[in-house]
Amino acid sequence: MPSHTFTVNGKSVTVDAPDDLPLLWALRDLLDIRGPKYGCGINVCKACTSHLDGEAFNPCVLPVSEASGREVTTIEGLADGDRLHPVQEAWLEQDVAQCGYCQPGQIMAAVALLKRTRNPTDADIDAIANVCRCGTYFRIREAIKSAAERMA
Ligand code: FES
Ligand code: FES
Repeated sequence: MPSHTFTVNGKSVTVDAPDDLPLLWALRDLLDIRGPKYGCGINVCKACTSHLDGEAFNPCVLPVSEASGREVTTIEGLADGDRLHPVQEAWLEQDVAQCGYCQPGQIMAAVALLKRTRNPTDADIDAIANVCRCGTYFRIREAIKSAAERMA
């Protein structure tokens, strides 16, 4: 079985897995990192959104072999010790989550957006493709605006 070494949330990890195993499976089932959620497995729902070398990506469609030597960040790696990321704080302030299933992916998408654009417009926010079956989109929008102010 091939070995794949990459960084997850600042730690080097090695997994033994077939080259074509989706990274999401390696994270959840081999490394017990359950923040990135499985929804569709085909890059549609975005529930698994995490960061690869600092940019949003969807590990359900990235073969684990392509993560070799790269830096993966999941929702578990966002806080700085006990200090939440400003986006997480804004999420709590706006009480965004309902069932919560999509929320790790929503937060990771929001962090990536705020890295690219310090003051996102409603259109920028609405362009986030992460699906929320509970319909929290309005509160997501308010939380991203609040996070942008915190990070200004
Ligand atoms: S599980 Fe749906 S996009 Fe990854
Ligand atoms: S909070 Fe339930 S799917 Fe988004």
